Amino acid sequence: MTHDAARELAAADLPDGRELTVRLATVADAPVALEVIHAAFLARPVVGEKPEALADDLGSVRARIEHGTGYLAFVGDEPAGLVMTAHQQGAMRLGRVGVLPQFREQGVASFLVEVVLEHLATTGEERVQLLARKEFPRIQAWWGRHGFSPAGDEGNCVVMARSLPVAVEVPDADAMRALGSRLADVLRAGDLVIATGDLGAGKTTLTQGIGAGLGVSGPVISPTFVLSRVHPSLGDGPALVHVDAYRLGSFAELEDIDLDASLDDSVTLVEWGAGVAEGLADGRLDIDIRRGIDPDDDTRWVFLTGVGERWTRDELAAVTAGPAKEDT
Ligand SMILES: Nc1ncnc2c1ncn2[C@@H]1O[C@H](COP(=O)(O)OP(=O)(O)OP(=O)(O)O)[C@@H](O)[C@H]1O
Ligand SMILES: [Mg+2]
Repeated sequence: MTHDAARELAAADLPDGRELTVRLATVADAPVALEVIHAAFLARPVVGEKPEALADDLGSVRARIEHGTGYLAFVGDEPAGLVMTAHQQGAMRLGRVGVLPQFREQGVASFLVEVVLEHLATTGEERVQLLARKEFPRIQAWWGRHGFSPAGDEGNCVVMARSLPVAVEVPDADAMRALGSRLADVLRAGDLVIATGDLGAGKTTLTQGIGAGLGVSGPVISPTFVLSRVHPSLGDGPALVHVDAYRLGSFAELEDIDLDASLDDSVTLVEWGAGVAEGLADGRLDIDIRRGIDPDDDTRWVFLTGVGERWTRDELAAVTAGPAKEDT
């Protein structure tokens, strides 16, 4: 693996087929980072005070990379965007968020920010903030779509903040089942879990662990051909309803398979449920499983986000921090 590959965090294809990559910046990248800052910020309309970013020079950018983290996006070999992070005012803050004009409206900024948020979560950060200029409500709305909400005022800016998912590193399939089994300890009747992740990410493997932890009748296997399968409890706990929404296009189709009857007295887990299954309950546990970019590495990162009153971040962090359960 080259040094560069080690710093590469994620890759994706743009709609036009070009490759978008995000990697961590080193001090050697300071000239590239400065170029991106100038190109991205000069292209913005100046309202009121000049953005601080335009006063950056090589020295200040190098210092920012040394004392924080820089994330650079490339389209092919061309620098396309930048985000920098640093601890400021007792919080983890994003700054210098910019995409070059020629790479806008293609999903570069969204991908870059999602990668940054995930990376921050894997480094144990719990919350993140940024400053958004008050004159640009559309920018605030954009951050709103990425989970940020207004959390205060600072000069001519709104402080936008959000909490980060709980991130767990899972080295192999057994560890994934062990994680599922620990999650089962906090799951109860009526809970909805939505599992997301590419083909073969480990959604079913995690569900096997949840089934084992709940003590339901097995085997838990991919429900692909039946859409949904009910695993009754072997004791007096809730049943596990395991749904595969891969082929379902909409919530209406999901409702057709008549889950309502079982929802209240079961734990319902929907694979591929993002964008389809949210309407089944008021709250839910979102589980996002990601593979690294090295295809030979089995390690997965699992991101847990509780939505609604039912879940607290602390509860999820406690579950994932617990010792792995021994197989019995
Ligand atoms: N760290 C890991 N966590 C989970 N599974 C792993 C891991 N490493 C290797 N594997 C293997 O990857 C495969 C994951 O398959 P699984 O069926 O759980 O994925 P899935 O997300 O449900 O896929 P699909 O989208 O097809 O439903 C299994 O063969 C499992 O043994
Ligand atoms: Mg599956």
